[in-house]
Formats: sequence, C-alpha cells, structure tokens
Amino acid sequence: MKSTEKFISKSEAETFCYGRDFARRLRAGSFVGLYGDLGAGKTQFVKGVCDAFHVSEVVNSPTFTIVNEYHGTLPVFHIDLYRMKNVEEILGIGVDEYIEAGGVCLVEWAEKLDGIIPEKRYEVRIAVVDDSTREIAITSVEGKD
Ligand SMILES: Nc1ncnc2c1ncn2[C@@H]1O[C@H](COP(=O)(O)OP(=O)(O)OP(=O)(O)O)[C@@H](O)[C@H]1O
Ligand SMILES: [Mg+2]
Repeated sequence: MKSTEKFISKSEAETFCYGRDFARRLRAGSFVGLYGDLGAGKTQFVKGVCDAFHVSEVVNSPTFTIVNEYHGTLPVFHIDLYRMKNVEEILGIGVDEYIEAGGVCLVEWAEKLDGIIPEKRYEVRIAVVDDSTREIAITSVEGKD
C-alpha cells in the first residue's frame, strides 16, 4: 500500500521545515530513502529531520565518510551512497546493521540499495524546478508494491 503527498518548497529554509515536520512520523527503526539529483536538497531535508530529534552535531552530506551517526533523542544514521558502486560494496560498509540499529536511518541515493531496501519505508523524492524551487514528494510504503 502506498500513499504520496507533495509539497512545493520555495527555499532551503522551507525544505528544512518540511523535513522537521515530516520527522514527527518517524520512530526508532524508521527508514527513509532520499532520491534526487546532486544539489536537489536531500541534505537540507535531513537537516530538518535532525533538528526535530534535537541533534546538536553539524549535519553535512556524508559523501566522503559515507555514514554520519548523530546523537539526538534517537540515534540518527545519515548515509550517502553516491560513491558506492554496487550492493556488495554497500553491504561491506554494514548498511544493514545501521538499518537494524533501532535509530532513524536516512539514506541519500537510496536507489542504490536495489533489492536490499527495507519493505516498510518512506521515500522522499526531490525534484529541482528552478534555482530556488523544489518539488518534494513523500511516499509511505507499507509493504510489497
Ligand atoms: N527549495 C530549496 N530546497 C532545498 N535546497 C535548495 C532550495 N533552493 C535552493 N536550494 C539549494 O540547493 C542546494 C541543496 O543542497 P543539498 O546538499 O541539500 O543537496 P543534496 O541533494 O543533498 O545533494 P548531494 O547529492 O550532492 O548530497 C543548496 O545549495 C541549497 O541552498
Ligand atoms: Mg547530500
């Protein structure tokens, strides 16, 4: 079962706030896959989610570190798979352990998870409309497609 909602963001700050509001739906063990081109705003959205969980660490795209773990009211795992070549490499960084660690798991470039993406998840798709405008679509996926 799927349901999708859409939002037009007019600024970085609006995307942040939308992420912060969305975070109310997240619980220990929640999984969020983020999709969208380089510079779409995935990390801005994640910053808003982290704010909702009172993360005090600086939240940046973990493109080089692959995984950032933040300590908020729940553990927040922020993963960026941009540089990962295949599922084997992704499993090699222990992504399944982060998914099962009982925190909130946010994964940029989640399409790279292919067959190992959790069935129950949120999909956040961000499309660039113009310099400052983004269309954000959030789908709640409950089980099999
Ligand atoms: N409405 C908007 N929402 C979010 N970001 C916006 C918006 N308008 C402009 N921007 C700009 O777009 C960029 C988004 O960068 P961000 O790092 O969040 O993208 P990303 O999708 O995480 O990219 P990457 O795949 O490189 O990690 C920022 O420079 C931000 O200022
Ligand atoms: Mg990013």
